[in-house]
Amino acid sequence: MNILALESSCDETAAAVVQDGRKVLSNIIASQADEHRLYGGVVPEIASRRHAEAISGVTRQALEEAGVTLNEIDAVAVTYAPGLIGALLVGVNFAKGLSQAAGLPLVPVHHLRSHIAANYLVHPELKPPFLCLVVSGGHTHIVRVEDYTRFTVIGRTRDDAAGECFDKAARAMGMPYPGGVHLDKIAQNGDPTAFKLPRPHVEGSPFDFSFSGLKTAVINLLHKAEQRGETLPIPDLCASFQYTVCDILCTHTLAAAEQTGDKTIVLAGGVSANSGLRSRMERECAARGLSLYVPPLALCGDNAAMVGAQGYYEYVSGHVAGPDLNACATLPIE
Ligand code: KG4
Ligand code: ZN
Repeated sequence: MNILALESSCDETAAAVVQDGRKVLSNIIASQADEHRLYGGVVPEIASRRHAEAISGVTRQALEEAGVTLNEIDAVAVTYAPGLIGALLVGVNFAKGLSQAAGLPLVPVHHLRSHIAANYLVHPELKPPFLCLVVSGGHTHIVRVEDYTRFTVIGRTRDDAAGECFDKAARAMGMPYPGGVHLDKIAQNGDPTAFKLPRPHVEGSPFDFSFSGLKTAVINLLHKAEQRGETLPIPDLCASFQYTVCDILCTHTLAAAEQTGDKTIVLAGGVSANSGLRSRMERECAARGLSLYVPPLALCGDNAAMVGAQGYYEYVSGHVAGPDLNACATLPIE
């Protein structure tokens, strides 16, 4: 079964063709990051406009690269929530038009579910149930994936998402948007023990996260140094910050796994590209005899192949939408 998948929840316009939820036939991404970089973050209206301009071409390219025509497509899957509402609406309306015109079923896909499904594209043996740490620019969740379309949230952030925290700390250190990847690179030349940073926790909720205090601590350190006319050793600050975020993510996830009894741990979302998080999780999982699955770097960030993977499982579970499908800016994964 071939699914044509579309993604436009943030600042990548993406289309892909995926076979049976597991095989990528094409995966096209048009990134707008260069334009948003001028403003230090995603400007929602610009994002919507760029999606509107790019989506037809990206879809055509995805079909061409897969070597299929619309006649060989069995369903159209689209990210409908959560995300920037104007951006999501472009993908949803385009998918609706296409599904109506071609007489194809329309499959709505939750963005975080699709981040998790990115792992199915490269790990044929991976099947639910498992425990997943979903870390993106807008979300930080520990989720038990009970089945392909059944999820239980075990923990979540109460304030900033991990990616947001990376990006804001990086921005305060003068790095361009999105800063997470730059901070990661610079951290590799620093000493993770140089700065003792706070590890905020949520009282009474051991699996929940709070990152805003950590972000503020980094910003305050930088401001105070500036006021004193001093410069901080940025690689050390990056390494200490990254170490602290990864330590929090890793300890909470492993504690959750101990409680649920899961032996398979999966990483998903943009921040799962972080080198510190990947290596720390690898070490800790190996020491406990847990299997760890991570997406390849190319599938950590937003893309449509992951939408095609999850879309397949949504479709076989009977999750299809009518022509009244709407987009939602927020929607729980459950
Ligand atoms: O999943 P994603 O592409 O978009 C959302 O759904 O939000 O995640 C983007 C986030 C950004 O905050 C970006 O800075 C972060 O993932 N990110 C990283 C790295 N690569 C991307 N954060 C830390 N280290 C990285 N190597
Ligand atoms: Zn995402």
